Amino acid sequence: MSLAINGGAPLRNKPFPVWPVWGDEEIENLTRVIKSGKWGRLAGKESETFEKKFADAHEARHGIALNSGTTALRVALMAAGIDAGDEVIVPAYTFIATASAVVEAGAVPIFVDIEPHTYNIDPEAVAKAITPRTRAIMPVHFAGRAADMDALQKIAQKHNLVIIEDAAQAWGASWKGRMVGAIGAAGCFSFQSSKNVNCGEGGIILTNDDVVAKFARSHHNCGRSEDGLWYEHFYFGGNYRITELQSAVLLAQFDRYEELHKIRQENYALLVDLLSDIDGIEPLVPDENITSHACHLFIFRYEKEHFSGAPKAKFIDALRKEGIPTSPGYSIPLYKQPVFLNKSFGPRGKIVDLPVDYSKDFCPETEKACYEEAIWFTQSILLGSEEDMQDIADAIEKIQAESGSLVP
Ligand SMILES: Cc1ncc(COP(=O)(O)O)c(C=O)c1O
Repeated sequence: MSLAINGGAPLRNKPFPVWPVWGDEEIENLTRVIKSGKWGRLAGKESETFEKKFADAHEARHGIALNSGTTALRVALMAAGIDAGDEVIVPAYTFIATASAVVEAGAVPIFVDIEPHTYNIDPEAVAKAITPRTRAIMPVHFAGRAADMDALQKIAQKHNLVIIEDAAQAWGASWKGRMVGAIGAAGCFSFQSSKNVNCGEGGIILTNDDVVAKFARSHHNCGRSEDGLWYEHFYFGGNYRITELQSAVLLAQFDRYEELHKIRQENYALLVDLLSDIDGIEPLVPDENITSHACHLFIFRYEKEHFSGAPKAKFIDALRKEGIPTSPGYSIPLYKQPVFLNKSFGPRGKIVDLPVDYSKDFCPETEKACYEEAIWFTQSILLGSEEDMQDIADAIEKIQAESGSLVP
């Protein structure tokens, strides 16, 4: 059967589910807030209610909702006492915000490699990167899969470091039964449009530490203090507050979460089964410590040797043409991003000379993931039917059978 990329009929013509999923609840909640006239969080109660629900669901003492996951990371770092010049260890394979939040907080991101079988930060690489200036580790629960919190906590305890979890992609993930985001000193989530629960833009910081919570509230609210005057500013901060409109949507999305998470998890398991049978397609390995996967992304490693040597980009193009939306994921290791390579951290790209040379960084697993191996399906695909998952496997098998036609 000729491949669609070569002019043949595509295996699939139907669309996958659209995202976001919403209904009357979102409309009712939004209407309630609009009619109340209390659109900002200082006036209403929606944000406070959402913070409490979200924190309770994670067994965290405090939740501070903000206007994005990026600001959540920045504020969490400041609230945890990370200071100018401190080093914060982050994975090289993640969204830019994990590292740019460190720069925004005045600190220095230090990139380390990921593990090839999990795509999460490699604890051994973390241990090797520690210097007298290291103050924090920022693991990312990448794709919704919990990072190895035991190993990271051990390192953190030994060297007296703070862990700030980047749980932007991981609502619903747990490590040995503990919800991620409430394990380290603080955990940060994103509610940006692509996330499993979204309100367009938004984020939250969770923490069990009363001091971190106090400073996070202050830094995100112009440096105010709860018992100070309105125009009295004690600390450095900005306006990173969430709105009541965002929180109204989040409250409805919160109630929808369990049902959608179950569908994603079932399809995730099915897809692992279906794809594991195909040579050269390696879904990331399961781990009994991952007691719940948030299923934000489905990741597999592509081995071109089993596809007549066709490079990753060609395979993705072929799969898309067969009707399967497919993402190459992060295309450049973070240390190779122009902003880090050139240290263009100032206004209009002005160079700010942090005491680190990113041009010397090399993380082999990250490079392989970016350039050769990592392929993603996004969470809304996992909201499809069993037949949809079968179509994905069938399309890949079709490409494999005809892979010789992908190379010159
Ligand atoms: C790993 C990771 N960290 C941080 C963020 C930043 O979140 P936001 O887009 O809400 O600022 C994202 C989301 O895009 C992310 O995927």
